[in-house]
Amino acid sequence: MLWARIALSLASLFPAQAWTVPSSENSISVSSTSPFSLIVSSGKKTLVKNNAILAGNTNVSTSPVSASASGTISNNGGQITTTKLNSTIFKVQVNTSSPFVGSSFSTNNDTSFYGVWEYPWSQRLDNANVSFELIGVGNEDGVNWDNARAPFFFTTAGYGVYTDTQKIGSYDFTVPGQVQYFFNSSSLVYYIILPETPGNFKSIISQYTALSAHIELPADTGYGPTFWSDNFEQDFHAGVHNAQENYYDVVNHLYFNQIHATSMFADRPYGTGNSSFGNFDFDPVYYPTPKEFVANLSAYGFDFQVWVANRAFLDTELFNVSEANGWLFPGIDPVQFLGPALNLSIPAAYDYFKERLSYFPSVGVKGYKIDRGEEGEMPDYEQNIQQPLFEQLCYESMMEKWGPSHFYNFARSAVDRSRSRTWIWNGDSHSNFSGLAYSVASGIRAGLVGFPVWSSDTGGYVRGLNDPTEELWARWMWFSTFSPVYELMLGTNHTPWYPPYTSNLVSVLKDTANLHHALLPYIKSYTYQATQNGLPIIRALFLEHPEDKHAYEITDQYFFGEQFLVAPIINAGGSRSVYFPGDKRTKYLEYFNRTSIHVGGSTASVSLPVSSVPVYVTEGAIIPSGDILQANNKWTDNWKPHLNIEVFPSFDVPQTSFLYYNGDTGKNVELIMTSDKKTGTVQVTYGNIGVSGTLAVYTREGQQNRTLSATGGKSIFHGVHSVFDN
Ligand SMILES: *[C@@H]1O[C@H](CO)[C@@H](O)[C@H](O)[C@H]1NC(C)=O
Ligand SMILES: *[C@@H]1O[C@H](CO)[C@@H](O)[C@H](O)[C@H]1NC(C)=O
Ligand SMILES: *[C@@H]1O[C@H](CO)[C@@H](O)[C@H](O)[C@H]1NC(C)=O
Ligand SMILES: *[C@@H]1O[C@H](CO)[C@@H](O)[C@H](O)[C@H]1NC(C)=O
Ligand SMILES: *[C@@H]1O[C@H](CO)[C@@H](O)[C@H](O)[C@H]1NC(C)=O
Ligand SMILES: *[C@@H]1O[C@H](CO)[C@@H](O)[C@H](O)[C@H]1NC(C)=O
Ligand SMILES: *[C@@H]1O[C@H](CO)[C@@H](O)[C@H](O)[C@H]1NC(C)=O
Ligand SMILES: *[C@@H]1O[C@H](CO)[C@@H](O)[C@H](O)[C@H]1NC(C)=O
Ligand SMILES: *[C@@H]1O[C@H](CO)[C@@H](O)[C@H](O)[C@H]1NC(C)=O
Ligand SMILES: *[C@@H]1O[C@H](CO)[C@@H](O)[C@H](O)[C@H]1NC(C)=O
Ligand SMILES: *[C@@H]1O[C@H](CO)[C@@H](O)[C@H](O)[C@H]1NC(C)=O
Ligand SMILES: *[C@@H]1O[C@H](CO)[C@@H](O)[C@H](O)[C@H]1NC(C)=O
Repeated sequence: MLWARIALSLASLFPAQAWTVPSSENSISVSSTSPFSLIVSSGKKTLVKNNAILAGNTNVSTSPVSASASGTISNNGGQITTTKLNSTIFKVQVNTSSPFVGSSFSTNNDTSFYGVWEYPWSQRLDNANVSFELIGVGNEDGVNWDNARAPFFFTTAGYGVYTDTQKIGSYDFTVPGQVQYFFNSSSLVYYIILPETPGNFKSIISQYTALSAHIELPADTGYGPTFWSDNFEQDFHAGVHNAQENYYDVVNHLYFNQIHATSMFADRPYGTGNSSFGNFDFDPVYYPTPKEFVANLSAYGFDFQVWVANRAFLDTELFNVSEANGWLFPGIDPVQFLGPALNLSIPAAYDYFKERLSYFPSVGVKGYKIDRGEEGEMPDYEQNIQQPLFEQLCYESMMEKWGPSHFYNFARSAVDRSRSRTWIWNGDSHSNFSGLAYSVASGIRAGLVGFPVWSSDTGGYVRGLNDPTEELWARWMWFSTFSPVYELMLGTNHTPWYPPYTSNLVSVLKDTANLHHALLPYIKSYTYQATQNGLPIIRALFLEHPEDKHAYEITDQYFFGEQFLVAPIINAGGSRSVYFPGDKRTKYLEYFNRTSIHVGGSTASVSLPVSSVPVYVTEGAIIPSGDILQANNKWTDNWKPHLNIEVFPSFDVPQTSFLYYNGDTGKNVELIMTSDKKTGTVQVTYGNIGVSGTLAVYTREGQQNRTLSATGGKSIFHGVHSVFDN
């Protein structure tokens, strides 16, 4: 890579002579010699070395610029302006007359860089050896089109950098201890973000999302379990004649097995016309009464979503109208590329598409599966501009009909701020253990770039004749249980209650779907927090334990919120080793049997049948669960919501708390547990939780239950021996 070498050699010819403004606070210092560099320091300690600002004429020829101490760029008349926004954020504005602008940072060789792409290159969490553009990633190991991304990275050197642009660009992490990036733009704004306290990576993610955008809270039905097929227009079983009845067959099997579910969706095909999308309808052969059909699904407790993409397939209405108006990207062959995209930067194109899409909410559709946006249907440099526009359009289409938090849109290609307009899934995962492993790692990585509401296609999407195997599918179901959203692709000869699958698999489906449903109060509380602080629900181990150096490169375990440690089984055979992050003072309790305790820094070998998964809770964990959404539960007479707060007291942590989100009031309620070893007393207090239920306390004496009052209350337990004390 030529430009990288130029950058390095110039840097060694003109070593930066940075001077530091003496100050007890963090300060920016600017070198007065070539090449221009920015040093952020605190007293004598260098915190950030932004060793060059790069500019050039092509995307392979940028080199460091020289500038005066006041920021005037000597060779092209540009200007660099630095501003301290607050004690942890520095803003840098670079204006040049060069078409490509970027920046480079250097750290020690042994630091790692995280972020930018959801896709886990080489199945890693960090970006070691990666050099790639900020665009959709295409067909790769484990998952195809695993595309969420953001112009944001952070490093274990202790800071993050957010570059606020929708232009195409690229990041290069191939040189140890260095990152260089640049964009197809003559000006750039980037922010250097310091943690609130050293090692507090969560605070870097929080500040990045505050500068960029937060997610919104989805409809309760968005979290799933969601059942869908790649083609409901085939694979008919007894008595089924069309797609509508094929959904009813799923509804009925879920009902008879008492499996909780909240929604279903139609992938393509479902409409008329070429490639079945672009005429804004349902195919009457398969959907004879779409409006009644959606109403019926709703009556049975299911929300319904449909596939959409910004692609005009040849001969459809979308194509004909767009072509006649000159809205299609030029030079994209409609035959070769299966439909060029509309240039949604043209207001008339945007308005037309949105108006036509309104058919779907008008018949009761409550969300879109937003596909594509990176398959050659537009020039690559438009991807980060057009996909957010399409997501905005889809968001408005749903918002105008249903209002905030009453629908669920999800996309595979989402960039930076579009997290506020769509939730995501991780693309076309391969239906094998490698696909599962990459999916777990991509779920963790999605969180590091601020996409907390996330799912993967349970069982994998790219399926051969015999995929998924029953074992793979069961393992993946457990992973989805402890994912923010549980969605599962069935149909086309792969339906758990039809051969070749056995009742064993149906039983795992039932246990996992019902546990995911029971965890809704927990998941929703964390999702609400993410709308405020940007923090992921699936968390890299090092976010919770930055002090533990072993925690950084573990790609197959995560914290689910703060209280659960999850170690999905991602290989055949059912054995794996589980690492417990932290130190000797950190303890974990196995969640399902509630007997074994594990100490931080240790490793355990675990073998489990497909009926279980290694999951642990932290000391003092407070876990709200229960049944707060009826959805398809028509099998319970006089259904009423019920909350079940589980607590796991430990005398080593005298006070713990949980911010429970009360959906009715729209407010957080603090659940607090205090424990006193001397008196053996445990006390749980809580405010207005909105729903009554049970408080379950797990101690060495066993499970003790108390009644939870909807309006708030306090329960005291005496003579307690903690399960963590042994
Ligand atoms: C430069 O741009 C071309 C397309 O114009 C692209 O194929 C290539 O990957 C880009 N290189 C970098 C380093 O961004
Ligand atoms: C730099 O460019 C931005 C955007 O083009 C503009 O708003 C800003 O005023 C410019 N700043 C300077 C110092 O030229
Ligand atoms: C860091 O890496 C560079 C090149 O990759 C190498 O030249 C240098 O010796 C390394 N420094 C240390 C301290 O390991
Ligand atoms: C990065 O690439 C180098 C050279 O190709 C290789 O030796 C090294 O193992 C790679 N590192 C990682 C983390 O993949
Ligand atoms: C840079 O963007 C311009 C449009 O703004 C485009 O014409 C050009 O092809 C892009 N170059 C690269 C290398 O992406
Ligand atoms: C600095 O600004 C960021 C972004 O708005 C914000 O998240 C953070 O809390 C601020 N920090 C302080 C110390 O004010
Ligand atoms: C409504 O859905 C149920 C399945 O849940 C199905 O049995 C019934 O036939 C449907 N009714 C109509 C009118 O489609
Ligand atoms: C689009 O135009 C083609 C060719 O003129 C025509 O065959 C087709 O029916 C049109 N599609 C629609 C939905 O009108
Ligand atoms: C559908 O589109 C493809 C190219 O995308 C084209 O080859 C085919 O002729 C079209 N079929 C119809 C019925 O328009
Ligand atoms: C898309 O439309 C916008 C607004 O008209 C225009 O500026 C831009 O050049 C178009 N992009 C392409 C690739 O044609
Ligand atoms: C719980 O205990 C049972 C009985 O000993 C065992 O079969 C099962 O595997 C255990 N589950 C876990 C998750 O450890
Ligand atoms: C508490 O409730 C659970 C679940 O309903 C039950 O299995 C257990 O026996 C109860 N414990 C006591 C002490 O009542």
